[in-house]
Amino acid sequence: MCIELKNVEYRYQIKTPFERLAIYDINLDFASGSYTAIIGHTGSGKSTLLQHLNGLVRPSKGEVRIGDHLITPQKKDKDIKAVRKKVGIVFQFPEHQLFEETVEKDICFGPMNFGVPEEEAKKKAREAIKHVGLSPDILDKSPFDLSGGQMRRVAIAGVLAMEPEVIVLDEPTAGLDPRGRKEIMDMFADLHKKRNLSTILVTHSMEDAAKYADEIIVMHKGTVRKKGTPMDIFSQPEELIELGLDVPETVRFQLLLQQKSGMYFYEPSLSIDSLAEQIAAIVKGGADQ
Ligand SMILES: Nc1ncnc2c1ncn2[C@@H]1O[C@H](COP(=O)(O)OP(=O)(O)OP(=O)(O)O)[C@@H](O)[C@H]1O
Ligand SMILES: [Mg+2]
Repeated sequence: MCIELKNVEYRYQIKTPFERLAIYDINLDFASGSYTAIIGHTGSGKSTLLQHLNGLVRPSKGEVRIGDHLITPQKKDKDIKAVRKKVGIVFQFPEHQLFEETVEKDICFGPMNFGVPEEEAKKKAREAIKHVGLSPDILDKSPFDLSGGQMRRVAIAGVLAMEPEVIVLDEPTAGLDPRGRKEIMDMFADLHKKRNLSTILVTHSMEDAAKYADEIIVMHKGTVRKKGTPMDIFSQPEELIELGLDVPETVRFQLLLQQKSGMYFYEPSLSIDSLAEQIAAIVKGGADQ
């Protein structure tokens, strides 16, 4: 399913003394089956943009098309519930939204709310819990007896149990340890590949943006500053650094080598392997001359 934003603008607390322009001039297409990362400084409008992707808010200007559904400032789509089923959002710290007595009830809540019978919802819950790398034994426990990492996985399982076509992730690994972060990011990469799940990820990790996404969108002060493949985006690291953003560690190392030793790299290294290969080729080239 495609999502398209045309000239979207959003203002908080419109027509009050606290009115605030959060995003403007947003023109974006999220193709079916794509993996997009959104990066940008705090306050640049990333979360506001995400809320447009499943109709949680209506734009103040412009239009949002989600599959066959059109959302404009004037018109609320009558069938907004169908949109919410197709586009699942994992908010930052989603574990704060757990509220049922058992993990199973929590995961079943979404599907049952959309009319899935209880037995079938329970089946979906079992599948979803395995998907997030937890044992089905956990289904009978209270979500509040789990560790932080487990709670996060349960909350994600609740979104997956709805079987969305698009998943929107607002810093899904914030506050987790490096191992937990990698496991969760690899799980989303796997879902993206195996189920062709369109994925839209807001992240502060340039490593994750470089590693997982096909396209990166750079937000700056409420609008899209740049978009392109990770190779495009990180081939001009100075520009990102100027915006106060980071670049992957491998690119930073490359820049340092370039400055200190005059080594010339043809392209940004987006992984340690590619960095090692490029350095080996440069060293070998030098030795052959
Ligand atoms: N509920 C709100 N009421 C008024 N202004 C808001 C509200 N939520 C966000 N804003 C403002 O809108 C702008 C964009 O905020 P948003 O939360 O979308 O940024 P963000 O890129 O997600 O930031 P972060 O990286 O900190 O999560 C900011 O200037 C913010 O202060
Ligand atoms: Mg945010």
